[in-house]
Amino acid sequence: MEDYKAWAAGRLDAVKGKMASVVARNAHKIPYLTENGRYNDKSDEIGWWTNGFWGGLLWEEWLLTGDDQYKDQAVELEEKQDKDLMDSEKLDHDNGFKWLLTAVYDYKKTGSKASRNRALLAANNMAGRFNISGNFIRAWNDWGEDDHRGWAIIDCMMNLPLLYWASEETGDPRFRKIAMAHADRVIDAFVRPDGSVCHIVEFDPETGERVRSHGGQGYGRGSSWTRGQGWGIYGFMLSYIHTGEKRYLDTAIKIANYFIVNTPPSGLIPVDFRQPAEPAWEDSTAAAIAACGMIEISKAVEGNDSAIYREAAVRMLKALDEKRSNWDADVDNIIEKGTVAYHYGAHETGILYGDFYFIEALMKLAGIDYMPW
Ligand code: GLY
Repeated sequence: MEDYKAWAAGRLDAVKGKMASVVARNAHKIPYLTENGRYNDKSDEIGWWTNGFWGGLLWEEWLLTGDDQYKDQAVELEEKQDKDLMDSEKLDHDNGFKWLLTAVYDYKKTGSKASRNRALLAANNMAGRFNISGNFIRAWNDWGEDDHRGWAIIDCMMNLPLLYWASEETGDPRFRKIAMAHADRVIDAFVRPDGSVCHIVEFDPETGERVRSHGGQGYGRGSSWTRGQGWGIYGFMLSYIHTGEKRYLDTAIKIANYFIVNTPPSGLIPVDFRQPAEPAWEDSTAAAIAACGMIEISKAVEGNDSAIYREAAVRMLKALDEKRSNWDADVDNIIEKGTVAYHYGAHETGILYGDFYFIEALMKLAGIDYMPW
């Protein structure tokens, strides 16, 4: 067996053991961030964008152990999410994160008609966010006085598979065409010549003209927020996987090359590749997400290129394992030092989706068939 496969399989054994304790301790909650080693609970904010990751983690643990208690808890979460599926104010482009990891995956595994219905409702709502003048999917609803009619964000690349799935499931090409129109606009409006990507681009919602970029969760306008680079790498690979269009593979490679040349020798990823030397904030979630994308690139290219992207991913994952993981069953998170945003939110703590993508990347390396996107 190749060295990386055996390594990943060994790490997944450790994941299995630790997650059994974590899930037991957090039964019927919806974890997000850890404080002093314990997850908080987003149960009273059912529409929060990360809630689907708990379902994703439970399905991962179900695949690793074959124990149906994890599936049952994932379905319990999926059913709780119905509260916000009926509230237009709570729905946004993150319908992908919320329902791909829960309803779509449930439907694929069990054939549940209720899950299929939830996922199609979420996809239809997401398709309705498409701005026909600007060829982009609107990210967020307005927040108080903040007008977001023309705002699109790089993260949305990860939500597009909900639309690809809806076309694959129904045979209706509308969803796929909307996803591709958005992906094409992102190539032209977000991806810079050096391969880095903006977090937020604001368009004129009437004419569709690009107005400006915003720094968003990164250091500032023109900088490169590392989790956003990760969303770009993995997101464009997912568009490539669903469409076979080479321009999406080429774009994922362009962003990945930028990511690789900017990765510090430690293999640990800062919050922003253009942040000042101090404070030296780190974001482990960016490493895990980018690793998933790079492993997918390695599967799509051949020969030496394939080894380059896989090795870049393994380097980051091993850095997380050796320097940033906590295998104490009494601590809820595995990966430490995840950061919400450079200028606000929690810094350098456990974040649910850091663990989710770390486990997803290990499963890819170990050859376990888990692709919820
Ligand atoms: N999608 C929001 C984030 O990456 O924090």
